Amino acid sequence: MAGIAPHNAPRNFQEHLAALEKAGLLVRIDKPINKDTELQPLVRWQFVGGVPESERRAFLFTNVVDGKGKRYDMPVAIGVYASNPAIYARGMGQTVEDVGQVWVKAIQNPIPPVVVDKPAVQEVVIKGDDLKKPGGGLAALPVPVSTPGFDSAPYLTATLVTTRDPDNGIQNMGTYRAALKATDRLVVRMAARVGGAGGWLHWQKYRERKQLMPIAIVLGTAPVVFFTGPQKLPLDMDEMSVAGALAGAPIKMAKCVTNDLQVPADAELVIEGFIDPMTLEPEAPFGESNGYVALEAYNMPMQVTAITHRKNAVFSAIISQVTPSESSVVKKVAYEPLFLYHLRDTMGVRGVTRVVMHEPLSNLRPVVFVQFKRGTLRTEVWRALQGAATFRSDVGKIVIGVSEDVNPESTDAVFWSLAYRQSPHEDVQIINYRRGVQGAHYQADGGNRFESSMLIDATQKRPLPPLALPGKEYMERAKVLWEELNLPAVSAKGTWHGYTLGDWTDTWERFAQRAVAGDWEANGVETSKRRRDDLPPETPTAKHEKL
Ligand SMILES: Cc1cc2nc3c(=O)[nH]c(=O)nc-3n(C[C@H](O)[C@H](O)[C@H](O)COP(=O)(O)O)c2cc1C
Repeated sequence: MAGIAPHNAPRNFQEHLAALEKAGLLVRIDKPINKDTELQPLVRWQFVGGVPESERRAFLFTNVVDGKGKRYDMPVAIGVYASNPAIYARGMGQTVEDVGQVWVKAIQNPIPPVVVDKPAVQEVVIKGDDLKKPGGGLAALPVPVSTPGFDSAPYLTATLVTTRDPDNGIQNMGTYRAALKATDRLVVRMAARVGGAGGWLHWQKYRERKQLMPIAIVLGTAPVVFFTGPQKLPLDMDEMSVAGALAGAPIKMAKCVTNDLQVPADAELVIEGFIDPMTLEPEAPFGESNGYVALEAYNMPMQVTAITHRKNAVFSAIISQVTPSESSVVKKVAYEPLFLYHLRDTMGVRGVTRVVMHEPLSNLRPVVFVQFKRGTLRTEVWRALQGAATFRSDVGKIVIGVSEDVNPESTDAVFWSLAYRQSPHEDVQIINYRRGVQGAHYQADGGNRFESSMLIDATQKRPLPPLALPGKEYMERAKVLWEELNLPAVSAKGTWHGYTLGDWTDTWERFAQRAVAGDWEANGVETSKRRRDDLPPETPTAKHEKL
């Protein structure tokens, strides 16, 4: 990959949808679908129904209704940003393999946005009394219920919540959920903890000043713009300058109609308003990506002052909750390469080859696997395990090191390593005083104020005998034979052939070669000459002979 070209990322949301549809990656549903009871559960099936990751699709619902029989003009797009890594990469205009490096380069080489007039996102402006009309304002938007049966309201989910630091004027954008409360009121949830939402840090400053905090919630942007929302960028780094670098051109911004914030001019829809930082309103229950339903808590109410949108706007939502989901894919594709970059290039750990975050159910951040070249110094292994546990305050409750022959995407392979390549008294360390993983405070006892990390070195530390499967060439030949015999289809997945792991001698190699050539009797002739009568059974020969 040269530089961060090619910059053929879609330039706006609808261009992205068209590209997905052309590539056969978008399913258009014209049948009436109830946004409160059917829409999210339908898309959920592709995450819980055994559909292979590569077969997951984006969805566009063109005929959205609700429980009261109301029909919405705006279509709803969901799963369009990150139903799988291929959809994410397409939105970046890159291959899946290049995504990580592209992020690193974009963060290092930001391109500042430019301000334009007459933005597409303000083709339609709704404000004043129109926001208060029954069925108007937010109620006119087809906002789905994410977790029917548990959620307390329809929620905005695919958001870029924009706020500005009142001290330095730098804007922040984050993906935060927002609950519909009235036609002109939302409650936004900005994680209020160390390493929490950038918007929350701004909120604290406005609260100190006793001033209203301007806020704009942007929906439906070019993926390169949206992806900066859930990405954890350095504080005080304007997300739009990183998006510009990802797009290869400045992002066009426009001033909001009713406050001074700037929003992407080509977005589908923007909800403008103010948060009164002196008051909080109950928000949730809402199904979270840690796999549990977030229970009701006091969060930040937003008074809506305008809704602006394109004439033919498409409403966008993200499917989150229990992972895998769009919410975990969007993080996995970006976080893993950033962690590898941190360990390998910033910390300079020698031997580290891969970082994988465990996705199903656990939602990436608590459990992290770090892979190393065989023979990596143990001190380097430990540096990497510690680095992975401390790089982000919310990542790395359990960090497990494995060797290069163990695929960290396979929990079976990791457990195999844990079973045979580590011993807890030597290879496990507990590091105290880290904050709880996301959602720890939902535990019945309120959660521990402090948690800890467990670091496990399950790498191969000494020579091991070969893996006990036929060698690769024999398995490959047998596969051809299998297919000739029309036996049920097989594919080479996981561990499917034997290989050496260091404990192997020329003698045993010679024996094995003779065995496959039918010359096993020659081995018998050799071993008969090596007989001993001074040792107990099961004494390893290699202890007494040079083999
Ligand atoms: C689907 C989705 C929903 C999220 N919801 C929230 C949320 O409600 N509140 C929050 O603070 N973070 C939420 N996050 C995580 C933030 O987007 C993430 O921490 C991001 O880095 C925040 O950006 P910031 O550091 O600029 O605030 C969510 C992430 C995703 C992918």
